[in-house]
Amino acid sequence: MRTNPNIVITGTPGVGKTTHAELLARNMALKHLPINQIAKEQDCYEGWDDELQTWIVDEDKLLDALEPLVASGGCILDWHACDLFPQRWVDLVVVIRCDSTTLFDRLTARGYSGKKLDENMDAEIMQVLLEEAKEGYDEEIVVELHSEVAEDVEQNVERIEKWIEAWKESKNEGGA
Ligand SMILES: Nc1ncnc2c1ncn2[C@@H]1O[C@H](COP(=O)(O)OP(=O)(O)O)[C@@H](O)[C@H]1O
Ligand SMILES: [Mg+2]
Repeated sequence: MRTNPNIVITGTPGVGKTTHAELLARNMALKHLPINQIAKEQDCYEGWDDELQTWIVDEDKLLDALEPLVASGGCILDWHACDLFPQRWVDLVVVIRCDSTTLFDRLTARGYSGKKLDENMDAEIMQVLLEEAKEGYDEEIVVELHSEVAEDVEQNVERIEKWIEAWKESKNEGGA
C-alpha cells in the first residue's frame, strides 16, 4: 500500500507539465519522474520516427524500468501520454491545457516546426490527452488544469497539494 499517491501529469508537449511537476515535487517532497529522460537513460527506445522527429518508445521496457520506482508511491509521472500507465499505479491524473496561441509560441520557441508542430497543435485543439485520460482512468481521478500565465502554475500546484492532503487523510481514515 502506498502512503503517498502516484500522480500522472500529462498533456501536449509545451503545456507546462515539467514546470508543474518540478514545483510540486519540491513542495511536497515527491519524486519527479521525467519519463522522456528515463526512457533515454534506460534506452527504452525501439526506433526513430523521422517524420515526427521523435523517438519511438518501447513501452514494455519503459514500464519495467518504472515499476520499481512507482511501487512505493509518491511519484509524479511527467509525460505526454498517459494510457500506458496501469490503472493500479495511478491515484490522480492531471491534464494540463494551454490555449493555442500561447502553445504555438512555446513550441516554436522550442524549435518545433512542420509536421511535428502541426500534430502537436492539433492534439491540443482536439484535446487528445484529456480524452485519453478520461478513457484510461476513472473520471473522478482526472482533473484538467490550465497553464497560460505564471500564476496558473502556483494555483494549480496548490490545488494538487490540497488534493494530496485529502488523499492522505482518506487513506489514514481507511487504515484506522
Ligand atoms: N503557466 C505558465 N506561464 C508561463 N510560462 C509557462 C507556463 N507553463 C509553462 N510555461 C513555459 O512553457 C514552456 C514549456 O513548459 P514545460 O513545463 O517544459 O512544458 P512540457 O513539460 O509540458 O513540455 C517553458 O518555457 C515554461 O517555462
Ligand atoms: Mg516536459
